[in-house]
Amino acid sequence: MAKIAVMGYGTVGSGVVEVLRENGDLIAERCGQTIEVKKVLDLRDFPGDPVQEIVVHDINEIVNDDEISVVCETMGGVGIATKFVSMCLEAGKSVVTSNKAMVAANGTKLLQLAQKNNVRFLFEASVGGGIPIIRNLRTCLTADHIQKIFGIVNGTTNYMLTKMYDEGADYAAVLKEAQDKGFAEADPSEDVEGWDACRKLAILSSIVSGKFVNFENIHTEGITKVTPEDMAYAKEMGCMIRLVGQSVIQEDQIHAMVAPMMFDQEHALSGVNMEFNAIFLTSDMLGDTMFYGQGAGKLPTASAVVSDVIEAVVSPGAVKRSVWTQEEMPVADFGAENRRFFARVSGDEALADELGTVLGSLKVLRAPRIAGEFGIVTGKLAEETMAACVANHPEIISVIRMAD
Ligand code: HSE
Repeated sequence: MAKIAVMGYGTVGSGVVEVLRENGDLIAERCGQTIEVKKVLDLRDFPGDPVQEIVVHDINEIVNDDEISVVCETMGGVGIATKFVSMCLEAGKSVVTSNKAMVAANGTKLLQLAQKNNVRFLFEASVGGGIPIIRNLRTCLTADHIQKIFGIVNGTTNYMLTKMYDEGADYAAVLKEAQDKGFAEADPSEDVEGWDACRKLAILSSIVSGKFVNFENIHTEGITKVTPEDMAYAKEMGCMIRLVGQSVIQEDQIHAMVAPMMFDQEHALSGVNMEFNAIFLTSDMLGDTMFYGQGAGKLPTASAVVSDVIEAVVSPGAVKRSVWTQEEMPVADFGAENRRFFARVSGDEALADELGTVLGSLKVLRAPRIAGEFGIVTGKLAEETMAACVANHPEIISVIRMAD
């Protein structure tokens, strides 16, 4: 029998216990042994809960327990989580986690620590909720150069944008719904400001490039400025608006960004609605592949955590292949990136000629008719050109990037 511990009995941690209880027989068959949750670490007590007898409040109760071979970190946050995970790895225990903030910030160090102590450090649940993307990148897509990642990797914002687009739902009301359903981070600004997606994109880009991609270097915008008017223009153009993480991987640098983007309703990602996520990859031999599934929520995320527990129980020793090295992968200058932009402009269409002299040829959108404004779509131009135009033209109300 393998004995494990769970650190953090919140949405995901309690889901881990539930998955192991519900599917215990099946998991035992697949592991060749049963898995028992021996201890749950949390600041709180849980009277009446099935785990009430095994709750501990001191990390040393786990670290010094030689029977515990695998620890699930589902606390969230960076500082204390990293400290506790490091203690577990140093004590010779494998650690699995759903904590993308910790992996993006300190994954390099924790991977090395796991290697040094001949244990596993696994984080399937840190990207795409229940979607098996990381293990596929690590074990299946290994014969290819992956050239591009284009993905919806935040369930909360996808849920919100779907409801805003389909139903005209109110921003604050749909955020509250996403929180009530257990999709959002403890601090939902992580979701709506794009930081959660940024960290996930950095993790995927690090795995694909084999070098550490620092999330702090990725240009990130959230969905807080997306308005019903933007949605109306998108509909007229036959487009969706979704929060997208995009990374183009070259040998010596990556081009990365997280931002709301408009893309055609024919695009493969256009059917990705509600809390679902999808990661669309382009690689040199295989071509296009897409991974799709529940990107947030208690049981989908817990399913991915438990899959890592099973992996750590079945193959406990460190694997030889590195996930990524500590060498940092440069992120290309964002200002020089070229793309098309949609913008809302206040005033009458005469202004389009003036904008055209700065931005080049423009398509002027005559629908939907919103009083006192019109829309434009630019040709491809540099981010810095568009930013300068916005700075010099207060008539530009908002800008959304167009996907290729
Ligand atoms: N808050 C995250 C999301 C949870 O909405 O995608 C899953 O990582």
